[in-house]
Amino acid sequence: MDAGHAFFDEAASPLWMGGSSVAVLVLVLVINAFRKERRRQLRRTLGWWGLYTAFGLAFWALGESAPEGLHRFLGGGTALFRSYTLVGCAALLVFDVVLPALRVPVVRITSDLLVGGAYAFTGLAVLSAAGLDFGSALAASTVAAAVLTISLQSTLGNVVGGVAIQLEGSIRPGDWVQLENGKQGRVSELRWRHTLLETREWDTIVIPNSALLAGQFTILGRREGKSTSHRQQITFQVDFRHAPGDVCRMVHDALLASPIPNVVADPPLQVLCLDLGRENRDSYAHYGVRFWVADLGQSDPTDSIVRARTFAALHRAGIPLARPSITQFHFEQGENAEREREVRRRARAVATLKAFSLFHSMTAEELDHLAANLVYCPFDAGETITRQGAVAHWLYVLESGSCEVVTEVEGVHRPVATLRAPDLFGEMGLMTGEPRGASVIALTPVVCHRLDKEDFERILSARPALARDLSEILADRRVELAMVREELTAEARSLRMATERQRIFERITSFFGLS
Ligand code: CMP
Repeated sequence: MDAGHAFFDEAASPLWMGGSSVAVLVLVLVINAFRKERRRQLRRTLGWWGLYTAFGLAFWALGESAPEGLHRFLGGGTALFRSYTLVGCAALLVFDVVLPALRVPVVRITSDLLVGGAYAFTGLAVLSAAGLDFGSALAASTVAAAVLTISLQSTLGNVVGGVAIQLEGSIRPGDWVQLENGKQGRVSELRWRHTLLETREWDTIVIPNSALLAGQFTILGRREGKSTSHRQQITFQVDFRHAPGDVCRMVHDALLASPIPNVVADPPLQVLCLDLGRENRDSYAHYGVRFWVADLGQSDPTDSIVRARTFAALHRAGIPLARPSITQFHFEQGENAEREREVRRRARAVATLKAFSLFHSMTAEELDHLAANLVYCPFDAGETITRQGAVAHWLYVLESGSCEVVTEVEGVHRPVATLRAPDLFGEMGLMTGEPRGASVIALTPVVCHRLDKEDFERILSARPALARDLSEILADRRVELAMVREELTAEARSLRMATERQRIFERITSFFGLS
């Protein structure tokens, strides 16, 4: 009997078969009793034990009478499956019973590699002990490789995913990530098989690495070359009694006045009017405060501080948050009510005109007439009120706010003057018939009243002295404008001033046909 036969006999001996059966049985009982959740892991070992028993029984049953090839096949199988059964039992005992019971953390990839290696090693050892040649050993090692692959199967995709994530550095511990299902969490750990996300609710999301790579996720607040900051938004509503421009500016200035913990300075905070009454149903405008936070874990408390400061700022400015409301328009009927409204409106307009020395010589009746023709016309900061080159239709009376007069020379905008209420502008185009000589842009929210050309003409015809006063203002402005445009010297300026007043006066009187 050669070494191979002796080895087969020993592998199929009642002692080994009985002993291994008892070992498997004990393991089944232990796992069923104490670690039910690991029952799945039993299956493979039970499979090896089944094969071992089947091959062993067949080996004994046929005995020496079997042909040599079959005898070696059954003997070799018995020895191989005995070793696999032993490796399976040992792996179960160590990684699924003892280490978890001792609360020793087991990294799945490590246990898989160890167990897979043990299968391969014992497989090769058994086959060489059985006296098999290299070709058979190679075939057997292929079997072992298959076994290894099978044992790694569940984790292989995840491991590859984990390695890819770590190599690429696409996610790093500490990053805030939003998953496809909308859940957000901070990456606490990148493991071989899965990635752990800690949520704001103090939960931990476990995402298999393969799933992380296959799906789409958003890394919050990360932008190439910038420090981490994520945009947050809080919203509020204010009714239409308050101009959106005023509300935005006021809240913006109030929020910038003192630093807010966790809100970064760059990108800067914004206050926006998001909508003017949604679906035509609301009686208020929707606003949003957008700001960037450094620590997303503290985003809820930061939102709360921004809300509280916004509320306080509105409160200080006497602007209440909108309440659900229904607007009822109440019309006073009858001639008297109409007349009273008109009287009130004119009184306000006359008060505005009286602020101008230009109109001081006008009688109350003339002022009232002029006021009757003024059209209320507000602008927000940044809006262009008149544009250079446009045809002039109106004279503007500036009641409140300030504007900048800007002229464009060869594509470059140059500031000419700043107008502060009370003042008027647009007289050049209206009085000379020339296109607007400059653009006038609101620097702040502005209240203007417009007077159209026909009404203006009527007033000038009734009071030609106004033409002289206006031509003086106009001449001064023109020279100033020319200085910016043509870069005049001081000497040229005073020369131009003297001739300009007379020239403009003549131009105006002829343009309006005044005597
Ligand atoms: P108009 O040319 O009709 O439109 C642009 C207006 O800007 C102009 O009338 C003037 O009212 C005003 N404007 C032009 N130049 C000056 C200036 N130098 N100072 C003040 N206002 C000016």
